[in-house]
Amino acid sequence: MQKAKIGLIGLAVMGANLARNLASKNILTLVFNRTAAKTEQFMRDFGTDPCLQAAYSLEELVEKLERPRKIIMMIQAGPAVDAMLDTLIPLLEAGDIVIDGGNSYFEDTRRRSEKLAALGMEFVGMGVSGGEEGALHGPSLMPGCSRKAYVQLEPVLQAISAKAGDDGKEPCVAYIGTDGAGHYVKMVHNGIEYADMQLIADVYSIMRHVLGMEPEEMAAVWDEWNNGELSSYLVEITAAILRKKDAETGRPMVDVILDVAKQKGTGRWTSMSALELGVAVPTITEAVFARNMSCCKEERTALEKVYAGMALAETACCGKKAAFTPEEKARLLEDLRCSLYAAKICAYAQGFNLMGTASETFGWDLRMDQISKIWRNGCIIRARFLDDVSDSFAKQAGMKNLLFSDFFADALKKGRAGWGRVVALAAERGVSVVALSSALSYFDAYRTANGNANMLQAQRDYFGAHTYQRVDKEGSFHTEWME
Ligand code: 6PG
Repeated sequence: MQKAKIGLIGLAVMGANLARNLASKNILTLVFNRTAAKTEQFMRDFGTDPCLQAAYSLEELVEKLERPRKIIMMIQAGPAVDAMLDTLIPLLEAGDIVIDGGNSYFEDTRRRSEKLAALGMEFVGMGVSGGEEGALHGPSLMPGCSRKAYVQLEPVLQAISAKAGDDGKEPCVAYIGTDGAGHYVKMVHNGIEYADMQLIADVYSIMRHVLGMEPEEMAAVWDEWNNGELSSYLVEITAAILRKKDAETGRPMVDVILDVAKQKGTGRWTSMSALELGVAVPTITEAVFARNMSCCKEERTALEKVYAGMALAETACCGKKAAFTPEEKARLLEDLRCSLYAAKICAYAQGFNLMGTASETFGWDLRMDQISKIWRNGCIIRARFLDDVSDSFAKQAGMKNLLFSDFFADALKKGRAGWGRVVALAAERGVSVVALSSALSYFDAYRTANGNANMLQAQRDYFGAHTYQRVDKEGSFHTEWME
């Protein structure tokens, strides 16, 4: 019997869809799930495809794979991955390749890579983005491993990945770097995803609570924005979400969904890593905090009563009409569009900056132009904008931060005034826009040669003799402040 090209462990939605994707590319795929019933169900549903075969034990899986074996694990990140590796490793031999396609923590991936390398096996920590649809029709793939392992996997990964580029043929996969690099890049992708989503939510807040727009009307604006420089998957689904009505009540879905957002942890990890590496990613971190704040529903409801009468927003929800002339409204909408674009540039600047420092710290040699290229399609943050990000990194090699990009500098200069107006208006009306405003502060701080840390230095020296540096000569200095 012909040996299978690849094994896939874990038939939850992502795993099942990835297996179907592999089979659709004529890659003979052998699936296994811990619970046999799930495997049986999968084979009943899709087993007519000759490229899908099932194994009912790990021994059978290992036996029926061509060598060196290539096995993708699509199982829950965390202890389950270690448990699976502990059972699997004794059945494998040197040269075999194990791929973890979950959202694993990159330090775990580094540890696992080392463990398998000591046994002569290859471990691949692979970021897979695009959700269920992406897994089925083409995700963006971010593999971190040895070059030797990547070369062996490349044809398969290219076949199943999303495609981008003018001809729609460029695979959204590239070699990322060794050990935890792939999962690190996927983690930052998710951090940026959090920021992108929160920026959209902030703009939605202003539309809803300052301009008093109804969901249908907002949907039309998001649709229009999706035709321009903001064109992206997240903007596209925002319009679709705003248009959707609840089947039960007929009300807009956004009005029946509770304002509480959970998280699985990748955004938080991005912020934790940034704190550890000393890189400023305020917009990503504010997006994580915004989810934490959203979960304090009870306190927020109680505090709204404590501070009743202070909310200045004139909203449709409060029963008041928004006080904007059609011209003012059109101008504010254009300001919002420019703010969103400018803030988005800053959020990506933060994410890429973090990857740059991580690359130096962990010795990964990350290629920012390539990373932005493979995010152009398949993944959740896919966007037209990533073409320009990729071009900027390619043209301005060694660029320290996306804010140095000539292309984006133009957009930021153009958008700054409207962005300021938007954040000021939100503050005046009592509408919290954490991502939009933190991105603005990031931009303003980054473009300021003389900031305010001179005051911090002086304070540290005053109370703790921590010393300070001077503007006019080299060295460390201390002043007797209390003479
Ligand atoms: C992707 C997504 C995905 C992530 C979900 C949920 O790229 O396909 O990033 O990996 O798990 O978006 O993440 P949260 O539960 O943390 O919002």
